Amino acid sequence: VKRAPVRRARAVARSNIALAKYWGKCDVRLNLPAVPSVSMTLDGLVTETTVAFDGRLRGDRVSIDGAAAAPGPRRRVVELLDRVRAAADLPLPARVESASSFPAASGLASSASGFAALAAAATVAAGLPYRPRTVSRLARRSSASAARSVYGGYAKLPAGTPGDDRLAARQLWDEHHWDVRLVVAVTTEAKKSVGSTEGMERSRQTSPCYSSWLEHAPRLTRVVERALRSRDLDRLGAAMEQSTFTFHACAMSSDPAVVYFRPATLAALSTVRGLRDRGVSAWATMDAGPHVKVLCRAADAPRVARALKRTEGVLRTITARAGAGVEVA
Ligand code: DP6
Repeated sequence: VKRAPVRRARAVARSNIALAKYWGKCDVRLNLPAVPSVSMTLDGLVTETTVAFDGRLRGDRVSIDGAAAAPGPRRRVVELLDRVRAAADLPLPARVESASSFPAASGLASSASGFAALAAAATVAAGLPYRPRTVSRLARRSSASAARSVYGGYAKLPAGTPGDDRLAARQLWDEHHWDVRLVVAVTTEAKKSVGSTEGMERSRQTSPCYSSWLEHAPRLTRVVERALRSRDLDRLGAAMEQSTFTFHACAMSSDPAVVYFRPATLAALSTVRGLRDRGVSAWATMDAGPHVKVLCRAADAPRVARALKRTEGVLRTITARAGAGVEVA
């Protein structure tokens, strides 16, 4: 019996940090964000994913960082594969192997690089043409922040329109636009308590602050985009911090409360303010986890990293520059 050949592709994607944050959906089923967001793709925080469609398999086999995926993450991967199988008319099971260079679910956004790499690898393995917009849209359906990791440098994901599944991110500037650094202060290696999907949904349903977040987020995104265009770190940093603290205010004021801050988080935030008091343009942001991520000039990065390493509760630092978009092999 002649067997269909195995159709395989490998993709590499990098994580990204939102400079203007996405928090909250306007359409849960289609996974459409309620607010626009702007991000920087990060060099060095890499996920590599291989997808092989293979008729000899009896079902999808998904491995993440060397172990069989847990039911939750597995389901999200299989849903993406199902969309690709439907688009390509290719009813074959797949083997997925994904590995990241940084701890999963620690608030370092492995879902962003993970779903961007998966969307690209699955698209190409299925024989569909690689179009960044199509891949970004596919990644967005699984995890909205992943839509931005398809592009190198700086990307924007507009707010969605309920019922309209076409939303994708686009590149604003490539990775050579501006030589800034993001210094990550890692405060724990443990998994986060409440994932971003659940945290933002609880914010939407229960936080009295959520409506003002929806009202103010578009303006903060505009300020970030303009400051990025003119490479104005002070303006960008101030808007980025406000975007961070406003979405965390929504999370914290949810019922039950979603608190990502730990003692080391507050200590690192105070280190960042101290650096600014001494004239260093250093600005903090956080995602759905306790780590503090600090944006600064390339020349200031060693000093910022040193100050963070000396901060009580900070385990280590990772310094990243703007990285490239998805690469398919
Ligand atoms: C705080 O993209 O992980 O990191 O779309 O539900 O998968 P889902 O959410 P996700 O949310 C990221 C939230 C954030 C801010 C950001 O990256 O914009």
